[in-house]
Amino acid sequence: MSSDAKKRYDVDLATTLPGTPGGKFMRQFWIAVHDSDDLPVGRAKPIRIMGEDFTIFRTQSGAAQVMAQRCPHRGAPMHLGWVEGEELRCVYHGWKFDCSGRCTEQPAEEPGYNEKVSIKTYPTGEHMGLVFAYFGEGEPPHFPPFPEPEGEGVIEMRPSTEAPCNYLQCYENSMDEVHVAFTHAPGGSHAKIAQDLPIITAEETDWGMMRYGRRKTGEVRHTLHYAPNAVRVFVPPFFGMDGVGGWPELILIFTPVDDHNCRWFATSKVHVSGAEAEKYWTKRREMESRAGEFRPVMDVVNDIWSGKLVYEDVRHPQLARVQDIAVQAGQGRIADRENEFLGRSDAGIVAWRRILLRELRAIANGQPQKKWATPPADVKPVMGA
Ligand code: FES
Ligand SMILES: [Fe+2]
Repeated sequence: MSSDAKKRYDVDLATTLPGTPGGKFMRQFWIAVHDSDDLPVGRAKPIRIMGEDFTIFRTQSGAAQVMAQRCPHRGAPMHLGWVEGEELRCVYHGWKFDCSGRCTEQPAEEPGYNEKVSIKTYPTGEHMGLVFAYFGEGEPPHFPPFPEPEGEGVIEMRPSTEAPCNYLQCYENSMDEVHVAFTHAPGGSHAKIAQDLPIITAEETDWGMMRYGRRKTGEVRHTLHYAPNAVRVFVPPFFGMDGVGGWPELILIFTPVDDHNCRWFATSKVHVSGAEAEKYWTKRREMESRAGEFRPVMDVVNDIWSGKLVYEDVRHPQLARVQDIAVQAGQGRIADRENEFLGRSDAGIVAWRRILLRELRAIANGQPQKKWATPPADVKPVMGA
C-alpha cells in the first residue's frame, strides 16, 4: 500500500490556488477583499487573494474596482499609477484603463491601437463596509452575498487582520464553539458562555451550514456558516464596549491571501439606535484613541509563541483575536488534517469537511456541483446564552 492510499483526504482541502479543485470551488463565490474605509477615493493599492495579485482602487465617483495587477503594455504594477475620474492610468507610459478593462488612452501610440488592448477587471461590490470581488467564470452570483442583519442598529467595522496560516483552519475554528471556554478564558471576555460546554450539531443548508450549540440549560445557540468562508454569530461585546449595545451580531470572513496566509474581515451590526447609538460611538472613539497604547496583534502572538509572554497573562484590546491567532496559526501554516483525533465537539468541523470534500471531489472528477443559494434574510443567529 502506498502512503497515499492511507491518506484520509484524497483532495487538498486547504488549497485555493488557481486551477485546483479548492481554487475553483472558492471562485464560485463573492470574496471579501478589502475594508471599505481603508480605500480612499483616488487611491490604488496592491492586494493578494487566493495566491494571485491584483490592483484595487476607488474611482472619483466612489466606486471600488478590482483590476489585474500588471499593465498589459509592459507589465508595470498598476497600483503605482493614478486614478483619473473613473479610470486608472499606468505610471510607466501612461496607458489608461476604465473599470470595464477598456484601454482608453495611449499617449505615445497611434490612434486606434488602444482598441486592441484591454486589462482584466473583476466584478466588484460593497456591502456592510467590505469590498467584495468575483474571480470566477461567467456571471457572478447574487449581490450582496449575504443579507444585512435586520432591525435597527449601526454597522460597525473592525479593521481586517492578516493571520499567518491557511484560511480553512480559521473557518473550522468558527465551527468550534467549545474552544471559547478555554482559548478565551484568560481575560474573561467570553466568561458568560464558558460556564457549560455545548453539544454541537450541524446541518447543511442550500447556502452553507447551520450549527447548533445546545447547553445544559436547554438553551441552543444558532450560528450561520455562509459558504465558502463566512460565519454569522452573536458574540460578547468587543473589548471596552460592554454596557452599551448588548451582544453584536458579527460576520467574520476568512479570505485566503495564499495557501499560507489569510485575512480576517469583520463587520457587525450592533443593535443600538438614537441616544444609545451616540453613547456607543463615544465609547468606541475612546477605545480608538487608546489604540496606540497597545502592540500590534502579531507582535504579541509571536511573543506568546516564543515563550516570551505567558498566554494566560496577556491583555490587549483585541485579546480574542490575539488568542485565536495564537492557537489557530499555532497549528502550523496548514493544519495537519491527516493526524488528528476528531471528537464529538468537532461535529461542526466534520460536517463542513464532508461538504467541502464532496464538492472538491466533484470538481476534481468533472461531476456536477451543488448550486449554492443566497442566504435568506429570515435565517438568523440565536444567542442561546
Ligand atoms: S507598462 Fe503600463 S503603460 Fe507601459
Ligand atoms: Fe475564538
